[in-house]
Amino acid sequence: MKLIVGNWKLNPKTLKEAQKLALALNKAKTKNKVVLCPPYLYLPLIKSKFELGSQDLFWQEQGAYTGQVSGSMLKQFKVKYAIIGHSEKREVGDTDQEINLKLKAAIANKIIPILCVGFGIESGEDDEEVMIRIQNQLELDLKDVDPSKVIVAYEPVWAIGSGKAASAEHAEKTAMFIRMKFHIKKVLYGGSTNPTNAKEFLSKQIDGLLVGGSSIKADDFYKMITL
Ligand code: 13P
Repeated sequence: MKLIVGNWKLNPKTLKEAQKLALALNKAKTKNKVVLCPPYLYLPLIKSKFELGSQDLFWQEQGAYTGQVSGSMLKQFKVKYAIIGHSEKREVGDTDQEINLKLKAAIANKIIPILCVGFGIESGEDDEEVMIRIQNQLELDLKDVDPSKVIVAYEPVWAIGSGKAASAEHAEKTAMFIRMKFHIKKVLYGGSTNPTNAKEFLSKQIDGLLVGGSSIKADDFYKMITL
C-alpha cells in the first residue's frame, strides 16, 4: 500500500469546484492510502472518504499571530496530516528553524507531518551533491524531533511544476538514503508526477507520491490513486 497525497496548493478557485473534485474522487476504489490537502478554508467543507491534510500550520497555539492557523485548530476539522517546509513556503521565507518548530507543533497535536526537502537543489547536480544538501536540511529540520513520527517528501525544486520529473532511480536512491540515515519510515517523491510516470515511481522502493498539478485534475488523480 502506497501513500498518495494531493497538494492542491492555491486551487481550485471556488469552493464548488473543490467539492466537485473531492466528490469525483470518492468513487475511486483503491488499496492505497490517499490524503487530500486543499486550502485551509475549504478543509471543513470538503466531503471525502479520504483523509485530509493541511498545506502548512503555525507553531504557536494562540496569540497575536495575524494570519496564522494552529495545529489544534486544524485538529478540530479532522486534519490528520500537514505538509511542512514545502519549497513554495521556503521560497517566501520559511527557515529550517521555523520548519523545525512546525514539525514539533504538528506532532504535539497528533498531526502527521509530511516534511518536504529538496529546496535549493539544481537539476544536473549529481547524487552525492543532492544527498549532502538533503542531509543538511534534514539535520536542521529534524533537530530534537522523533523521526519515526515524520513522513518525508523528496521534492527536487526543479522538478516541481516543470513537467520534468526526476528519474525513478534517483528518487529511489534518495528515498533509501533518507530512510536509512534519518530513521524515517516513509519517504515520498514529488515533482511533475502524472498518470503516465506514477507507476514507475510506485514500482520502486518509494513509499508514495506528493502530487501537485495532477491532483487537481480529477481524471488524472483518479488514475494515479487507483494504480
Ligand atoms: P507538481 O506535481 O505540480 O510538480 O507539484 C509537486 C508538488 O509541489 C507537490 O507538493
